[in-house]
Amino acid sequence: MALKYLLVLEVCVFAAFGGLSDLFLDKEWEEFKRIYSKTYTKQEENRRKSIWLKNIDIINKHNIKVDMGYHSYRLGMNKFGDMMSNEVTSPMNGSRGFPMFNSSMFLPPGNLRLPYTVNWTKKGYVTPVKDQGFCLSCWAFAATGGLEGQHFRKTKKLVRLSEQNLVDCSKENLGCTAGTPENALNYIARNGGLDTEVSYPYVGKNGRCRFRPTEVGANCQGIVRVPAGDELSLQKAVASIGPIVVSLDASKRSFKQYRNGVYDDKACSKKLITHYALIVGYGEFQNKKYWLIKNSWGTSWGMDGYMMLARNQDNMCGIANQAIYPSV
Ligand SMILES: *[C@@H]1O[C@H](CO)[C@@H](O)[C@H](O)[C@H]1NC(C)=O
Ligand SMILES: *[C@@H]1O[C@H](CO)[C@@H](O)[C@H](O)[C@H]1NC(C)=O
Ligand SMILES: *[C@@H]1O[C@H](CO)[C@@H](O)[C@H](O)[C@H]1NC(C)=O
Repeated sequence: MALKYLLVLEVCVFAAFGGLSDLFLDKEWEEFKRIYSKTYTKQEENRRKSIWLKNIDIINKHNIKVDMGYHSYRLGMNKFGDMMSNEVTSPMNGSRGFPMFNSSMFLPPGNLRLPYTVNWTKKGYVTPVKDQGFCLSCWAFAATGGLEGQHFRKTKKLVRLSEQNLVDCSKENLGCTAGTPENALNYIARNGGLDTEVSYPYVGKNGRCRFRPTEVGANCQGIVRVPAGDELSLQKAVASIGPIVVSLDASKRSFKQYRNGVYDDKACSKKLITHYALIVGYGEFQNKKYWLIKNSWGTSWGMDGYMMLARNQDNMCGIANQAIYPSV
């Protein structure tokens, strides 16, 4: 599949310079639809194809500049290639009038020596990459990721937790429309736990609450906040606590089509929150410091579902704005 796709891109680079006819891209379009299981109505198809053509152009031009040394990250085609940016992410409004009843502030351990690189996935704290599908439930995936990590830290057992439980049952949030990890963890604390993924699998649609106390996989007491906008505190939290839940702006096309390298699009916002994800580590790659991000867009996005996002680069994409973790 990957090889096939590479071929598509190369053909398209060629087409951009060689002016091949649309007829040829028709074949690639059919291939794209097949690979990503896309089906459209006749009317919709033209619109989708024109978005896709525009994105191929963006991806190719960007990657040519990577080869010239202008960018530290590559783009690639994926399932978002025929979609508008706001179909995948949208502004997430946090305040719904449910105050967090038990929150405290992160205090780094006094004797903490910061490792040069951290990767909690290696240490067993992180479940395999999940896929939120076309439901704006990133907030639920970030919350489960944070709790899965802290539950592992406490019990040494890695348990996959249910996002659908959060989508269906946490009234502090708006299901597939919007939500925040903070509200999700608040729900878990009030509810007395969250069901396992196995007992309450993800469907990616709003549904009736089917929480069962007998299927609880983990619980939390409340949340701990990392000082806002402070990447050094965030680094200390990641190094000493485990995976940390973060807010960020993922609204840019470059983010949707990210393939690999250290992402640092200056156009992404430091204020606007459009996405939630999990920081599972940090390090340095080709002389660029990065945060290692676990996303919830499946393994065909980014580096098998992960991204390296620029670290200590003036709070890139607002990565340190709302960093929290559950207390367990
Ligand atoms: C977020 O929601 C609250 C409560 O519904 C509302 O007062 C506030 O204006 C909203 N903020 C944004 C940026 O939409
Ligand atoms: C983190 O660890 C995982 C599991 O060992 C590995 O697959 C991945 O490549 C590592 N990521 C980085 C950026 O080192
Ligand atoms: C608040 O969290 C702490 C741990 O961080 C816990 O000891 C305490 O019981 C919690 N309080 C409530 C009311 O849940």
